[in-house]
Amino acid sequence: MISPAKTDKKVVIEVENVSKTFKVGDNEVKAVQEVDLKIYQGDFVVIFGPSGCGKTTLLNMMTGLDEPTSGRVEVNGQNIFNLDEDERGLFRSRHIGFVQQMSYWVKSLNVLENVALPLMIEGRKASNAMRTARLMLNEIKIKKLGTQLPTQLSGGEQQKAGVARALVSNPNILFADEPTGNLDSKSAGEIIKLFYYLNKELNRTIVMVTHNQNYWESGNRRVEMKDGEIVGDHNHHDGYIKENGYVKLKAEK
Ligand SMILES: Nc1ncnc2c1ncn2[C@@H]1O[C@H](COP(=O)(O)OP(=O)(O)OP(=O)(O)O)[C@@H](O)[C@H]1O
Ligand SMILES: [Mg+2]
Repeated sequence: MISPAKTDKKVVIEVENVSKTFKVGDNEVKAVQEVDLKIYQGDFVVIFGPSGCGKTTLLNMMTGLDEPTSGRVEVNGQNIFNLDEDERGLFRSRHIGFVQQMSYWVKSLNVLENVALPLMIEGRKASNAMRTARLMLNEIKIKKLGTQLPTQLSGGEQQKAGVARALVSNPNILFADEPTGNLDSKSAGEIIKLFYYLNKELNRTIVMVTHNQNYWESGNRRVEMKDGEIVGDHNHHDGYIKENGYVKLKAEK
């Protein structure tokens, strides 16, 4: 399957003929089969499809977490599986933000310290890391959560803080695997709006997997998977409208 042509934009992710087979006892599970996908700077791609069709497996290969059985994955022009594990870890922390269904926290640190942690692990001085983390919380409008402990936050607030942590190293790509899976519809809508803001206003490329049909058209591009393959890849209209300066989900009209 060839991705829609968009020759004027920079390719930030290129998945070429990628397959992943898991061995389970004597059986082989073909989780992803010969997938080709190009994602462009500024895309907001929504990946959907039935449970078990290979969405998470594909995402994990694009983020460098899981090595393909065959094929090639390039992120920002770098073949990520040509790097050794240490190099890949460093590359991931600089180029890739990742949000999952639930955010995991160091419970003894407050939200600001948790958001600063990836930078300190990269070797930045604590004062510098905290300053950058504070700016990040500001940027996504959750400054007031900084002094709280993660356990004191609602699920939706935790996911927003998770987005801040994912973006604190200033990666140009944000991946999200079912980021609204544990949230009620109001909090879920807020997370999608935050993604929209990051995409439209801050020009981040977003790749989101979701089961939730309400959000399949929330980006500019929708990729459908089935049985380990991409069976649909559509560019379409902007899924959002702006009203009185506020971004509104179409479903809320
Ligand atoms: N580590 C693993 N070991 C063995 N099989 C696996 C492993 N990870 C995934 N699979 C299998 O690969 C297939 C694709 O799984 P994957 O998690 O990518 O699906 P998914 O589309 O993300 O599903 P869901 O919507 O339920 O999250 C499934 O058949 C799954 O059982
Ligand atoms: Mg999954």
